[in-house]
Amino acid sequence: MSRLDSFIRRMQAQRLVLDHAAATLGALPGPVLELGLGNGRTYDHMREVMARTSPTSVGPARRIVAFDRANVANPASCPAPADLILGEIQDTGAAFAAGNGPVAALAHADLGNGIAADDLVLAAWLAPLMHALLRPGGLALTSTELHMSGLEPRPLPPDVPPGRYFIYVKR
Ligand SMILES: C[S@@+](CC[C@H](N)C(=O)[O-])C[C@H]1O[C@@H](n2cnc3c(N)ncnc32)[C@H](O)[C@@H]1O
Repeated sequence: MSRLDSFIRRMQAQRLVLDHAAATLGALPGPVLELGLGNGRTYDHMREVMARTSPTSVGPARRIVAFDRANVANPASCPAPADLILGEIQDTGAAFAAGNGPVAALAHADLGNGIAADDLVLAAWLAPLMHALLRPGGLALTSTELHMSGLEPRPLPPDVPPGRYFIYVKR
């Protein structure tokens, strides 16, 4: 598969996973966290389907807090300053968890670079961070496979190939 095909499939998987999560979150309270704002495309989609900013969103109104080491988002997809936390997510995410406790209903992390060795390093800090951020029943959506007791794998929605994206529920 070419890298272009792989990229397109990753985007399709992201949308399917985000829509599936929005539909299954229900009334679980708490903010949504975007770990890795990037261009803001997935943040913008999460605003549409999870934050009741459009008629298609479901569930309660939610704050979405985005994290990145720098703000490179398209201005149309840029969070309010109070909802954008800049710095290394290992540090800023841990500070958010320390300050707020495990409150998030959902956290989405699109941080991997597709290099297996880097993904192992990423997973080693992302799994405990997800656990610290999420409330019981909260969902972790990631492009990186995580292994941690307390983060239970959940089935992917139909049409998302295994290994393309990962969903965990915090126990
Ligand atoms: C693939 S992009 C995210 C794209 C985003 N999902 C979108 O739809 O536009 C990953 C982002 O995560 C950020 N990032 C990766 N590792 C990070 C880290 N350890 N701390 C802070 N930001 C990080 C990068 O700066 C980059 O903007």
